[in-house]
Amino acid sequence: MERASFGSKVGIILATAGSAVGLGNVWRFPYMAGDNGGAAFIIIYIACALLLGLPCMISELIIGRHSQANTAGAYRKLAGGGIWSGVGYMGVLTGFLITGYYAVVSGWCLQYIYASAANHLNGTPELIKTYFTDFETNPWKPASWAVSFVLLTHFIVVRGVQKGIEKASKLMMPALFVILLVVVVASCMLPGAEKGISFLFNPDFSKVTGSTLLGALGQSFYSLSIGMGCLCTYASYFGRDTDLGKSAVQITIIDTCVAIMAGLMIFPAAFSVGISPDSGPSLVFITLPNVFNHAFSAVPWAGQVVSVMFYMLLALAALTTLISLHEVGTAFFQEEFHKSRNSAAWIVTLSCSAIGVLCSLSLTGYDGLQVFGTPLFDLLDFFTGQILLPVGGFLTCIFLGWFVPKNISREQFTNWGTIHTGLYGIYIFLVRFVCPVCIALVFLNQFGVI
Ligand code: TRP
Repeated sequence: MERASFGSKVGIILATAGSAVGLGNVWRFPYMAGDNGGAAFIIIYIACALLLGLPCMISELIIGRHSQANTAGAYRKLAGGGIWSGVGYMGVLTGFLITGYYAVVSGWCLQYIYASAANHLNGTPELIKTYFTDFETNPWKPASWAVSFVLLTHFIVVRGVQKGIEKASKLMMPALFVILLVVVVASCMLPGAEKGISFLFNPDFSKVTGSTLLGALGQSFYSLSIGMGCLCTYASYFGRDTDLGKSAVQITIIDTCVAIMAGLMIFPAAFSVGISPDSGPSLVFITLPNVFNHAFSAVPWAGQVVSVMFYMLLALAALTTLISLHEVGTAFFQEEFHKSRNSAAWIVTLSCSAIGVLCSLSLTGYDGLQVFGTPLFDLLDFFTGQILLPVGGFLTCIFLGWFVPKNISREQFTNWGTIHTGLYGIYIFLVRFVCPVCIALVFLNQFGVI
């Protein structure tokens, strides 16, 4: 049977950018930029993404397109069945774990679309906070939203690469850009918005330290979805004429623009009402509802519209990301266990729903789901983001840089010699030496070793 593939270049870019553009762009990047010297951070972030994120991304794309297989199969083929196959299996496992907790937060967004539309968030800061904690600790509501979100992902993935993933990305990504643009304009037109804009764009190099650099690097890897073979699975559906380097640059540009625009959505509104933004779930589900209420207090319906649009934007960003995570598992079961696409997708959906429900229940304080006093939800977030992804990225660089024959990587980089680029030498140098060292530094810094 012929292997599935994407049907168009636009489809390839939008689907892969859809994987990269996710919650990380909205709730982590703006805060990190604001806190670490604004434009100074943005410049460093772009440098990290281009010099280090890009070569890692290209490596995953090379592994996927060369092998024409799911992530585990791809590493195994290239490793000839040796020890490096383990990196692929680890990627598939990481995918399952991320999907579990990502689905929970995605489900929260659905609840908040409803809550904004029904005007439940229009109240005092205390009310908004209680609304969130009551909801988050409710035993069945968030869990059912998480399962619904995984099911939504399921029905897209099960339709296949072109009819499901590509078609959905072509519809959802433009919708995401339009919504983002509208909310950015609304936010920047508020009185006093300039203060937020200048906070984000004023370069303050005095705030740049060693940990700023490592923070920017870590964030760029997370944001570009590097380290678990998501890019590898998607690349196995790329055509022979897709320029991997050029596509990676385009995806990086889209992802970075969305992150910067998210900053332009959050800071002007927050500064206009004098609330200082934070990051993570509390930014999205507690701080921002307050900001919207205050910023649009003169025209409450406008605040409501902006709020609904904001949560729709998050849900879209999360959905395109979850589709790519789901596909990693679906392709794995389909090819490795010779299942139909339908059964493979159901296996992923059921197991990810189970992880999602457990993660969600762990936030209700149920003792059985706390590990050393930490809820399973936070544990999975930490374990995947801070450990499995950097380790996966590191091992991929070492594998591709040192063990995969150079003729394979050159062939993929230059599309079998048809693209005449002098960049291969630089690329392989970065992957062999610079990327592994930098990832190792970020990793050690996170644990306070350096
Ligand atoms: N890039 C995603 C975001 O910005 C999160 C993410 C990290 C991810 N690693 C991934 C998504 C791997 C898919 C696959 O939110």
